[in-house]
Amino acid sequence: ASGGAASFNLQTVPSSFGIAFDIDGVILRGRIPIGNSRRALRRLYDDESGALKIPFLFLTNGGGIPESRRAFELSDLLGVKVLPSQVLQGHSPFKTLLKRYENEFIIATGKGEPAVVMSEYGFKKVISLDEYASYFDNIDPVAQYKRWTTMQELSCSRNSEKIVSSPSDFSQKVKAAFVISDPVDWGRDIQVLCDILTSGGVPGEKNGHQPPLYFAADDLQYQAAFPSERLGMGAFRIALESVFNRIHDKPPPPSPLSWCRIHDKPLEYTSFGKPNPFVFKNAETILGHLVQSLCPGNARTENGDLALPSFKTLYMIGDNPFVDVKGAQQAGYPWFSILTRTGVFRQRENHTQYPADVEETVEKVKQELEQCHLI
Ligand code: G3P
Ligand code: MG
Repeated sequence: ASGGAASFNLQTVPSSFGIAFDIDGVILRGRIPIGNSRRALRRLYDDESGALKIPFLFLTNGGGIPESRRAFELSDLLGVKVLPSQVLQGHSPFKTLLKRYENEFIIATGKGEPAVVMSEYGFKKVISLDEYASYFDNIDPVAQYKRWTTMQELSCSRNSEKIVSSPSDFSQKVKAAFVISDPVDWGRDIQVLCDILTSGGVPGEKNGHQPPLYFAADDLQYQAAFPSERLGMGAFRIALESVFNRIHDKPPPPSPLSWCRIHDKPLEYTSFGKPNPFVFKNAETILGHLVQSLCPGNARTENGDLALPSFKTLYMIGDNPFVDVKGAQQAGYPWFSILTRTGVFRQRENHTQYPADVEETVEKVKQELEQCHLI
């Protein structure tokens, strides 16, 4: 390979490409790198200087820790220097809701440190569902049987999650709930979320409409360390939705009209993450900024701002046709999908509903690399 960052100077290479890697089932299984993923990633950096040569980022529906920490963790596992800006997690788009909820009392749940993630985005009154639930006596009637969480672990996680809470916070109306990563205690979370959502934001009361509910992703399954797929956030969403819709659809009190059921509104929610086209647009912008930072001498707009490059091809390399390939297809040009058989997808033939552009891949990638004098 020749050259370092200069290979991507837009003045010499009018069209260029970038890569978005899915993580679970493509780069890692649990914490173990898959196949030659470490070596493949190293090839995107200059051998001698270690500088990034090819603009790439990680586009994952996973999460639970801030992007800066994930970048550090990935650097360690994969042996390359990953910048926080190269990590787009399922919950990263929640930043766009800051204006709406910056000073509102909100709840965050999921594995890792959901409240820390949200508070790093700038949300000032966020509390983890873990801590919120601990304020209400007996809200989880089976809590005492959950020996899998030792008291010591619980108090550690609570200490690291104490972001904003003062005793008065807990009695406030919850203005929105965020599922930022795969929930750990589904039973408790379904119970407490139903309490919040059916009551209008104050468990135990009946106080108005369902507060908004946001999911970082909607993956039914994903590839972790276990040989077959594991249930993901989409599975949790289905469980919550069906319980909510059953308990929220109550018959009215006896009256002459008792033949008529009251149908409260079904659960309303918004899911971010792939395959949401917004996520792909955002990834394209971030890859553009990455190219700008790699090539300081780039073209400028009339106002003197650095011009964002227009990519000829952006490769989405994923293992899930319903998420990675569907997302790239919906996003359209310049996205090009590559489907691996290292995770959720295992079939011999291309996926029928969301076939990847995989057939053209080898030739196309080779052409791109040749054009950029990288091979
Ligand atoms: O929890 C993670 C999972 O839902 C998917 O992660 O990297 O395959 O998008 P990824
Ligand atoms: Mg995956």
